[in-house]
Amino acid sequence: MTQITSSFPHSSRGELFYGADYNPEQWSRETWDEDVKLMKQAGVNVVSLAIFSWAIIEVADDKWDFAWLDEVINLLHKNGIAVDLATATASPPPWLTKAHPEVLPVTKNGETLYPGGRQHWRPTSPIFRRYALRLVEQLAKRYGSHPAVIAWHVNNELGCHNNYDFSDDAAEAFRTWLKERYGTIDKLNFAWGTAFWSQHYVDFADILPPRQAATFPNPTQQLDWARFSSDALGAHLDAELEALHKHSPGVPVTTNYMLGRGTRGMDVSSWKVDFVSNDHYRVQTEPDERDELSFSANLTSGVAHGAPWWLMEHSTSAVNWQGINIPKRSGEMARDSLTHVAHGADAVCYFQWRQSKAGAEKYHSAMVPHVGPDSQLFRDVVKLGENMKALAEIRGSHRVTAPIAILFDWDCWWASELDSHPSSRVNYYREALDWFVALLDLGIRADAVTSPTDLSKYKVVIAPILYLVDDPLQQRIHEYVHDGGHFITTYFSGIVDVNDHAKLGGTLGRSLDDGTEATMWTDPIDIIGKSVEVIRKYDSGDVKGRPAVTRNSAGKGTAAYVSTRLGVQGLKKLLPDLLKGTKAQSTLPPSLRGPVEQVIRSDGHTEWEFLINRTDDPIDLKDMEGDLLVSTGVERKARLAERGIAVFRRKL
Ligand code: GAL
Repeated sequence: MTQITSSFPHSSRGELFYGADYNPEQWSRETWDEDVKLMKQAGVNVVSLAIFSWAIIEVADDKWDFAWLDEVINLLHKNGIAVDLATATASPPPWLTKAHPEVLPVTKNGETLYPGGRQHWRPTSPIFRRYALRLVEQLAKRYGSHPAVIAWHVNNELGCHNNYDFSDDAAEAFRTWLKERYGTIDKLNFAWGTAFWSQHYVDFADILPPRQAATFPNPTQQLDWARFSSDALGAHLDAELEALHKHSPGVPVTTNYMLGRGTRGMDVSSWKVDFVSNDHYRVQTEPDERDELSFSANLTSGVAHGAPWWLMEHSTSAVNWQGINIPKRSGEMARDSLTHVAHGADAVCYFQWRQSKAGAEKYHSAMVPHVGPDSQLFRDVVKLGENMKALAEIRGSHRVTAPIAILFDWDCWWASELDSHPSSRVNYYREALDWFVALLDLGIRADAVTSPTDLSKYKVVIAPILYLVDDPLQQRIHEYVHDGGHFITTYFSGIVDVNDHAKLGGTLGRSLDDGTEATMWTDPIDIIGKSVEVIRKYDSGDVKGRPAVTRNSAGKGTAAYVSTRLGVQGLKKLLPDLLKGTKAQSTLPPSLRGPVEQVIRSDGHTEWEFLINRTDDPIDLKDMEGDLLVSTGVERKARLAERGIAVFRRKL
């Protein structure tokens, strides 16, 4: 579970943070002066600095140039702009990879990746670690007590590009990790089920990462490899964090996570930081992508245990790294940013401050576009800065527990999507998102939570594709239901134990008796308990007439099973029946259920209700209680602008 200490960056003016990655090394000295002037105009009060600056800080092995960084930090400080200082370890400089090509990552097929891009380092390389920590130490000693430096930013997006490294360093570290996990080779043989296909090991020394094999590598080896690779990145984070705590005590440390659909490799819920931060980019070509932003923010809040966190990166408009990069439409920038705030972000930062004129990201949007500050984009940036100021009072507030939790678990994500399964279309993140979107459509709030969260505070717990269930989790779910909780799970749940062994003692598309299309999965259910209630039946194929959705009662609660994939529309139809008697309901007026997402933050005395327009049409907001604090788009209490967001304050 993410361990978060109580230290959170502090704004001397009591504001929320607003800013960006700042890359002054790409610009002339005169531009820096214009930058700070424009930053002040936009209300920017923090920048992340030196993320990719290793090569110009350590210009050769142990030869340092801090003059430019001193000057930038002092300039920012003089102008009241705080610094989230990166440890600069994300992209090793050419002199280092030339001297030590053995720090470069290796693919599954044994190809060594060349430098020339970024993040070309092995998480387990002792040589890389040594150089990286020397750099961290230099920076921490020099800037650790500089008044501008309010936070440390470890590396960058740990695992982006180098999540899975199959090098010999990694193989060695994997063996050590396995020895710690299993103790003896016999236990490993049992866990990995090596009686299958002649895979029995006699010594840990014989074990390799799951490199490209003739056919499916051992599934438990693959699962342990995913666990190990995430832990290896976490160990690098720990090493940098420890050096920072030692040489720069009291300055909170973070690293920017990438919680979202595309980055399953990092189980950040098990990493340790002083405060959580996240990067999020929309992929507008994917279904439900506006709602996916909200789910990612909600999950980040879950990882942060409902406490405030930082949005470290997102974009003002188009990115450059998708096949087709779609600019944001009017209103979307503010709505996107403030949706993160609704879900607990106390900082809204972008990649990046000024759009690069050279390099691979010159077509990526920024706060100051190529055309300059006399642009609609910059005017929107300034306007959002004003809204961020108006929202200062929500700083430090927590999320208000929703009636429903959606349980999100990395072991399940990894294990359910392994190869050699009944269907390669199982998509863990997509299923969790479907439930979230169906609930949004019904106007019911839900919290995405990670496994160890206290479930008892939720009326209903939904665990989509709870494929891998270890004994403690099984016990907790049992207790939750017995104590009166209502538990819902889906197809491909409760299938394997912690070793990915089938628990002892299905399959393609049908329809249900309410007309809903059931896709990808069908479990032919036999009812054996007398108290089982059949909520839906299959209506076609060889399972026609058999139960599809069931609910049983146990103790004071209930547990429901949805045996097929229904998608957002099907879930929307089913949920009202599943939620009957659970007291989990919408707290929105009926006309707003669906078009509006409602998120609530509170500090115990005051509550802030965020209403987010999920549609492209204006929405009437009549009779809303409370003071209107912010409204994007149109400044009227009675109307929520298309793609707009409004924040109401109420005293408790
Ligand atoms: C992030 C990265 C940034 C920038 C951005 C572009 O993954 O941290 O440095 O590359 O993507 O969207």
